[in-house]
Amino acid sequence: MQIVHIADTTKLNTTVARYIFDRIKSNLHQNRPFTLGLATGSTPLGIYRELVPLLGASGLDLSGFYTFNLDEYIGLTQHHPNSYHAEMMTNFWLPLQKLNPTFKLEHTHIPDTSTQNPDEECKTYEHAIQKNGGIDLQILGIGTNGHIAFNEPGSRGDSRTRVVSINEETRKVNADKFFAGDISKVPTHAISMGIGTILEAREIVLIALGESKREIMTRLLNLVEPTENIPASFLLQHKNTKIYTDMSNM
Ligand code: GLP
Repeated sequence: MQIVHIADTTKLNTTVARYIFDRIKSNLHQNRPFTLGLATGSTPLGIYRELVPLLGASGLDLSGFYTFNLDEYIGLTQHHPNSYHAEMMTNFWLPLQKLNPTFKLEHTHIPDTSTQNPDEECKTYEHAIQKNGGIDLQILGIGTNGHIAFNEPGSRGDSRTRVVSINEETRKVNADKFFAGDISKVPTHAISMGIGTILEAREIVLIALGESKREIMTRLLNLVEPTENIPASFLLQHKNTKIYTDMSNM
């Protein structure tokens, strides 16, 4: 894992957005598709605010550009403002399509939790990632307990896309950030890509912003081998992971 420290968060967002844009552009210029793994939560929003206009104004033909999201809540409809589907529509997919109509909404993927058969949907999602040729670059945030996507502590390093339960701690944090502090409104379950699924991405960029992530990042960076107690530690097994942080003395 390579760690990149950029103290100014705005500069960090611009740097990461530019980096991802260049990776997408390079593939598309060579007539190769590009699949971006998208994350939700507050962390990537600043990057999306930069990346969407870059892609939008690029003049690139985005018909070879695909996206797969990490996870989705069970129990919220796609139209619920707190669903990850709605979050992506608002912050990425629709603004990009408006700026560059070659971007196809049919090329976006997120687990469909409205299904009667979530286990089947997990298999379908895994299959769709494979059929699409895998993920070129996966963006990740990190939870204060070390979760990535909704892989909570105790998740196995070889886990695949599956139905997971969301920890009390994670629900509390997400309640404060997105559900006006009301934990009863935060779903207890989700469909999440597994850690094994995430590790198959050819490149991973994890972003850790702000002091609330210092403790978990310090624990993570002091590990020599992965532990199920800190799901993000399985990234130690990945050959092409960069961590961008705005925290000094990491
Ligand atoms: C959420 C998401 C994760 C996200 C994490 C951190 O629960 N499922 O994908 O990375 O928590 O969120 P934030 O970026 O708001 O700190």
